[in-house]
This record gives sequence, C-alpha cells and structure tokens, in this order.
Amino acid sequence: MLRRIKPLGWLVILAIMGLFLTGISHLVSGQTQTAANLPNRETDIQLKDKLPSKYPDISMGIEMKVSGTYQIRVQQPSTKSTTINDMLGDWIDNQKDSFIDKFADISEDDEEAASLKISVTTEQIASDSYNFIFTQEESDQSTETKVFTIDVKHERELELEDILKMDDATMKTLREQTEASLVEQGSSVSDDMLDRLFSDSSAWTWSINREAFTLYIDDDSTTLKVPLPIESLYLHLTEDIDEIIDISAEQKQEINDTIEAEKERIRKEEEQRKEQEKRKAEERAKQQKNAPTHNSDGKYVALTFDDGPSAEVTPRVLDALAQHDAKATFFMIGNQAKAHPKTAQQVAAAGHEIGNHTVDHADLSKLNPQGIRNEIGQSADSIEQATGIRPYFIRPPYGAFNDTVTNDAATQGDTLILWSVDSLDWQSKNANAVIREIQEEITSGAIVLMHDIHPSTADALPQLLDWLEAQGYQFVTVSQLLEMEGQNGVGPYYGNVK
Ligand code: NI
Repeated sequence: MLRRIKPLGWLVILAIMGLFLTGISHLVSGQTQTAANLPNRETDIQLKDKLPSKYPDISMGIEMKVSGTYQIRVQQPSTKSTTINDMLGDWIDNQKDSFIDKFADISEDDEEAASLKISVTTEQIASDSYNFIFTQEESDQSTETKVFTIDVKHERELELEDILKMDDATMKTLREQTEASLVEQGSSVSDDMLDRLFSDSSAWTWSINREAFTLYIDDDSTTLKVPLPIESLYLHLTEDIDEIIDISAEQKQEINDTIEAEKERIRKEEEQRKEQEKRKAEERAKQQKNAPTHNSDGKYVALTFDDGPSAEVTPRVLDALAQHDAKATFFMIGNQAKAHPKTAQQVAAAGHEIGNHTVDHADLSKLNPQGIRNEIGQSADSIEQATGIRPYFIRPPYGAFNDTVTNDAATQGDTLILWSVDSLDWQSKNANAVIREIQEEITSGAIVLMHDIHPSTADALPQLLDWLEAQGYQFVTVSQLLEMEGQNGVGPYYGNVK
C-alpha cells in the first residue's frame, strides 16, 4: 500500500506534518513566515482546522494556504448560526479573492512570496452578541480593520441605529469626542479627513461594548483605534441599548439620570427664554410708547449716541433733541451709567431709547463666551439700575463682533445694532466737520453714529437737526426704524447706506 504513494505525495504529507508541528503555532502567534522557509514552493498546501475559543458558543476556524507565489493565513470565527457563518465566510472569501487576483501574475522567482493574514479578536457584548474585529495585513504592511457586530440569536448584524440615535446632536458629540481622543493619543488627523468621516456614517468601522463605542479610522497603512467612553454618549444611546449590550444596573441608572438632568436643563432654559422674551416685549412697548408717532412714508433717520452718559455733554445733547421733539438711541457704557446715574435717568425720562455698549468698552470679538456674557450682562445690570430700563439692543464697541457674540445675543434675545453713517465725531472733534460728514452720507433709513462725550458733537446738533428737518427727515429710535424695515432678528442691523 505504501508503494502506491508517489514520491511527490510523500513530500506533501511530510510538508503537512511539518506545518502541523510548527506552522500552527506561528499561525496562532501571528509571526510572519515566508515561503522560502517552507519545504516546497512549487506545491499548493492547504490546511484547515477548527479550535475552541474562550467563548463556548464560538469556535475558531484557521486556514492556511501556501502556493508558489503567495501564502494566506486566516482566522474565521464560527457561531451557532449558519447565516452568520456564511456572511463572515463571504467577506473572507472576497478578501482572499481580491488578494489572489492582485498577486496571481507575480513571477515565482520573486524573493519573497506575498502574504495575506486575517486575524480576529472576539468580544462578547451580550449573552448572544459579539464584536468580531478582523485585522487584515498584507505583506506590503497595509492593515485594515473590519468589524462585524453580530446578534447571533436574531442572526443579524447590528447597525449604528441600534446603538445610537443618529441625529445632529449625536454626530456633534461623536466628533468632539473623537477629536479629544485623537489629541489624547497624540495622533493628528486632518480636519478634511474628519469632515469626510463625519459626513458619511455608513462608511464607519465601529464596535461597541459596555465601556466604549470605538471607531476605527484607516489612516495610511495603519488603523487608528478611537475609543469613546460610553459615559460620554449616555444622551445619545438608543432606548433599547440595554437589550443590545450588557450594561450594569448602575450604568442603566446613570443613563436615566443623565437624560433626566438634560431634560430639566432644557426645560429651565426654555422657561428662562420665555421670561426674557416677555420682559423684552414689555420694555419695547414702554419705550415705543414714549416715542412720537411717525409717518413711514417720509424720510427717517435713527440718531445714535455712544460711550455716555457724560455729565457734561449728554444734557446738552438732550436739550438739542428736545428742541426738535426728536427721539434718539443712547448706547450707554455700564460703568458710565454707574458713574452718572442722574444723567442716565434724564435720558430715560426724556423718552429716548437706551442700548448697551458693554461694561467698559470691551472688544467683544477678543473674549470667550463667558467674557462676552459678563460684559453685556453686567452692563445691562448697571444700566437697568440707573434708568429702570434693561437694554436689549447691543452695540459692540468698535463694531467688532463674531459668531460667539452673535450666539450670545441670540441666546439672550438681544439684537446687535451697528451703523450705516459714521459722523467721525470721535476723529474730527469739530462741529462743522460732523455736520458735513452727515450731510454727505445721509439717506433715509440710516443709522447715524455719534458720541455724547465730545462737546463738539453737542455743538453740531442744533444746526444738524435743523438741516435734517428741513430735508424732511423724521427722527426715529432704533426700534422704530427696525419695525419700519421689518427687521426683528438678532441682527446685526446696520441701517441704510446711500
Ligand atoms: Ni464706543
């Protein structure tokens, strides 16, 4: 009987035995083995075996194939479900086929054979669910990760939507957490790459367990593993998450507490917003009642005075305006209102509109959100204390604002007011120059910037107001002007330019 086996057959048997003795340990430990070390490059050798794993319901299939030009080593988990096993098998077959296609034409004379290694890490996430995390390495060192998160009982692959409420808030948190995790790992991933990653969640490679939701980001030839702690995602987990992954009773309680706290926060914020809206509507009504009626068919202009009140100049400005029964808007500095409460009161008592120009003329565009809030909020407090009016119009000093300033105004229900005509009174400090500048630039619907701290501005007013009236201009407050223009958002509003 032995005589029937040809010499070549003996060689194959010997090779297979050799592989069993040494190859398996290499296969499992993951060392690279080149074809040159194998007994016969000319011969195709194929090995398959099944080993138990640490999970009773999962066994681990191993396969090794050596041909003249390549070698393939694959680990394949096997579950109780044939549907799942077929799915995993199909994916592995695909990887093998495309690898073989790639190396089929390579000459057998090459020094080193190409190799493909697919290994798998198994994680149990619930009694009958697992993460199968495949790592695929090719001889050119490129590695890729593919994860199957499988519910074996229901014979299906879990989807992102089973784990997370995939809305904008979730995406925002995931991106923030990812960026934080990358910084912590010292990995740099470009914004472009993150933009791409977060624009299409269907392309994600991810896994989930009770500790973390993990993203696998393929970057050049390596895969970055980005674990996002499950606690940071409590608000974004699906309601049935405890049916999907094993979480402790404690964790379940923490999740519920976090959601309740968030609901309460939103409720309070909404309540606060409504309260502010009501208060602002009351202020608006109060200030508009003080202003004379206007004819929206004619020409109109909103005169505004910044940086006061000044004990010396503001009363003179008030006198000039009173001569024409003109109402204007005063953007007060909080510290000035505090220093000259009587003057501030006079402005309010004369029925002028009052706006907010920060505590101390700060450049809001250079502050963080809390700094902006302090500048505007504390100034509003001082102005309200002096005049009884809480201003909701904000004029940012230097006209300097950014998205953070606009966001603050939006949250508070405030409106940003800039200007379309700069009298340049702060520069010229000359009454004639102020009049000339405004005469040149004025148009109906303009918001004119002046300052009730320069005596020259007070000097200019009598002649300026006479001229404007002669030109047919009505004097309106900023809120009247916005109403006529149908502008009622957060702004910024500039008024009309010529
Ligand atoms: Ni100013």
